[in-house]
Amino acid sequence: MKLFVIVLSIAAAGLPARAQMATHADPIEVEPVLEVPSEDYRTGWVQIGAFSVLADTPADGAHEIHAVFIDKPALETYLRDGAFAEGTKIVKEVWGARTEDLTTGRASYADTLKGRFVMVADPDGKLGAGPRFGDGWGWAFFPGEETRITDTESYRDGCLACHEPARDQGLIYLQGYPALRR
Ligand code: HEC
Repeated sequence: MKLFVIVLSIAAAGLPARAQMATHADPIEVEPVLEVPSEDYRTGWVQIGAFSVLADTPADGAHEIHAVFIDKPALETYLRDGAFAEGTKIVKEVWGARTEDLTTGRASYADTLKGRFVMVADPDGKLGAGPRFGDGWGWAFFPGEETRITDTESYRDGCLACHEPARDQGLIYLQGYPALRR
């Protein structure tokens, strides 16, 4: 009887874990064109702008700092043509922020990397055909320091609704990028 009870409770304890496994997708290895750049973009690319997303209590400073990068040739092409050339990669870092009272005032700065978003310009739909491609871009998010394993199954579910407000700017939040102003 005692054994029976133990077996039952093990089975019950196992259930939620199995249910969770079933709803968690297997790791997705991203299409190579969507990977986080293997070169050191922090030193070699141009940081075109940054966003500070405030904490629920704004006096606490920023909850996150977002830093956005693009490589120099792609930037020059954009400034010349006013459009992103095919293959242009935009990397957005999401940093958990820290806030301190510095000699400038209450200042928030990048602390730990939460993850990175990558968009790749695909104006003619030639770079990929799967669920991470569409509306002129390839789309993926990489948690933490990850560069190849994404948790983005579909850009329609995971990205598009939030980028719709920037639809008439090619889905990019251009207002935040001084380096792209022409
Ligand atoms: C909660 C809403 C939200 C979701 C979900 C979201 N984004 Fe964004 N994204 C934004 C906003 C707003 C900005 C600009 C402001 C900021 O970063 O705070 C932005 C900026 C970006 C940028 C910098 C270029 C630009 O558009 O200005 C990239 C790259 C990016 N997102 C990729 C993605 C990808 C890929 C996904 C899906 C995996 C995604 N985003 C999902 C809201 C979102």
